[in-house]
Amino acid sequence: MSDKFTSRGVEQWVRGASVSDGAGVRLLRVLSGSLQRRLDPFLMLDEFGSDNPDDYIAGFPDHPHRGFETVTYMLAGRMRHRDNAGHEGLLSSGGMQWMTAGRGIVHSELPEQQDGVMQGFQLWVNLPAARKMAEPDYRDYGADEIPVHRDADGATVKVIAGYWRGRPGAVPANATEVLYLDIDLPAACRHREAIPAGHNAFLYVYQGELAVGEGQEKVAERQMAVLSGGGDGVALESGSGGARTLLIAGRPLGEPIAQWGPFVMNTREEIEQAIADYRDGRF
Ligand code: FE2
Repeated sequence: MSDKFTSRGVEQWVRGASVSDGAGVRLLRVLSGSLQRRLDPFLMLDEFGSDNPDDYIAGFPDHPHRGFETVTYMLAGRMRHRDNAGHEGLLSSGGMQWMTAGRGIVHSELPEQQDGVMQGFQLWVNLPAARKMAEPDYRDYGADEIPVHRDADGATVKVIAGYWRGRPGAVPANATEVLYLDIDLPAACRHREAIPAGHNAFLYVYQGELAVGEGQEKVAERQMAVLSGGGDGVALESGSGGARTLLIAGRPLGEPIAQWGPFVMNTREEIEQAIADYRDGRF
């Protein structure tokens, strides 16, 4: 990249809220509620991470989704997925599952381990109105199916979605052109990532800390940084301990968001229809 590179800065810092979901899984909910508009098309980001089975063993028994996509990225552990469209898969360390709920899916996500570390992230990505009632789709990507690049500056970049310097990630282009990178920076590493103009973008630092942009704004471990608009991308610099961060960006839909739990549509009427369809077994 040229020296004309201009970096986005940090517009807002966000700390996750500790919540319990599913049958009693302890989560850090980083993106929700009021950030859904600002970070359109993203609806939710949860981090799960524990070496205590009590925090995860109950998992997520059968539950529905309609109107969006879920992206589950595992750093450590094993989780079994089953759904009413007949899909079944094992999500394991370093792997990713991309599920398009579309018009409706009922699935379970259950730990396939009794002890040890379970760590990862679930991101909810909204679908455009025209795709909300699409056929459900699901795919598992093993760790070896997610492209990894070593940059000249020493950073290691896993490309879960989108393109990295022209090279496709595991899911190159979904409906909202999501860019989803897991970036591992060694100590004192200066690194740049391009972000498509017009995309909403954020960082979630899950290990270590980072300085961001020309202002060298600090983002601490377990903080999300909502990035400002404009610029060519984002400039990152790690401290003496290195850092690991997610960089997530997507094309905003600019459509109304109507949410009721696991259903995300455009209008209240569509939500009522989703509840009725689920109740009457039409998923
Ligand atoms: Fe789910």
